[in-house]
Amino acid sequence: MLKVGILGAGKMGKVYARWFSANPHCEVVAFYNRTRERAEELSRRYGGTVFDTWEALVSDAVVDAVGICTPSHQHLAQIERALEMGKHVLCEKPLAKDIHECRRILELSRAARSKMMVGFQMRFHPVVTTVDRLLERVGKVYHAEFVFGLYRPGVTWRHRLIEGGGVLKELSSHLFDLLEHWVGELSAVTGLNRIIEPDREVEDYSVNVLEFRNGASGFLFSSYLERRSSCILGNLMGTEGQISLQFSPYDPSDSRVVLFANNVTDIPIAIPSEIDEVYPGHLDSFKREIDHFVECILHDEQPMISAAEGLRALEIIDASYESTRQGGRKISLPLGAFSQSDLERCFQRFARG
Ligand SMILES: NC(=O)c1ccc[n+]([C@@H]2O[C@H](COP(=O)([O-])OP(=O)(O)OC[C@H]3O[C@@H](n4cnc5c(N)ncnc54)[C@H](OP(=O)(O)O)[C@@H]3O)[C@@H](O)[C@H]2O)c1
Repeated sequence: MLKVGILGAGKMGKVYARWFSANPHCEVVAFYNRTRERAEELSRRYGGTVFDTWEALVSDAVVDAVGICTPSHQHLAQIERALEMGKHVLCEKPLAKDIHECRRILELSRAARSKMMVGFQMRFHPVVTTVDRLLERVGKVYHAEFVFGLYRPGVTWRHRLIEGGGVLKELSSHLFDLLEHWVGELSAVTGLNRIIEPDREVEDYSVNVLEFRNGASGFLFSSYLERRSSCILGNLMGTEGQISLQFSPYDPSDSRVVLFANNVTDIPIAIPSEIDEVYPGHLDSFKREIDHFVECILHDEQPMISAAEGLRALEIIDASYESTRQGGRKISLPLGAFSQSDLERCFQRFARG
């Protein structure tokens, strides 16, 4: 049995507790959360000990694997300690606060003997795996467009700089990952990042014009301001056809893929019997993600999404911030020698509000 410890008992802590517990090769043995009561709640439901500090949890000899569900400014220290202790790590996206931290994590994960995976769970969503199967039917993709909108009123860690908030990191990171997975490597980004609601330190509105190395182009719009309903909408336009897709984190019935090729085919997405309680619209993607991570540990294989993909998303995000700082100049990727002070300058306009 693989013994699992979970850091963070917010929404994602709940998700991890459920799906690691449901995996027949795993037992959840440990929880840590800043507010202890929330970890105790999970321990009452799933078993396991509640630790007073995350350091004690990741150092405990009983724990084989650690699920990291804390905000991204905590990830580097937690991953570093966990890998040092020989634990396998599944870490939530965004992988870390910025590219510098991600580069360090990539080095650590390459040197480690244990497995490390980043939680881009959308790769396992039935809508996404359906698009994976259909993609060759549309020929060469020349345009990709995506919209990811949620309505998030108020101010939480998700809207604060130090904790690594903002729509780019929370929402767009998933779609940058999917876009590169489907279309290919991005070669440039032009970002318009804005703060619309008061008291937020980071963008709640983000438009990015995208250019891919293979000549394709497109755009991604993400916001915390979408009042209709939460939605992920996309179009992949190719030389032989088009795929339109949609899903929503909260509504399982909103899962749809339409293929426009010789004719129009509406591909039904079966709703799995076990779907997530926190994010029902993500169907069983978290289950599949966690099962994949566990299989990789058991069979000594490399997980599908490594720290390199986590770093890549942050690189695109930091390029988008830099583009905004330079008044909408196109920024080429990869960022290369983008320094810590360059990065801090990107954030100054946000920090000033
Ligand atoms: N893969 C996905 O689809 C997906 C979906 C949502 C979130 N995420 C990622 O998962 C991670 C956690 O998000 P969540 O939705 O679980 O958030 P959440 O429900 O708001 O919970 C946040 C967790 O982090 C803790 N926390 C917040 N600020 C902290 C601080 N300054 N110091 C220490 N602990 C702090 C909270 O502890 P308290 O209980 O003490 O407040 C809580 O355990 C983030 O990296 C997020 O981007 C991924």
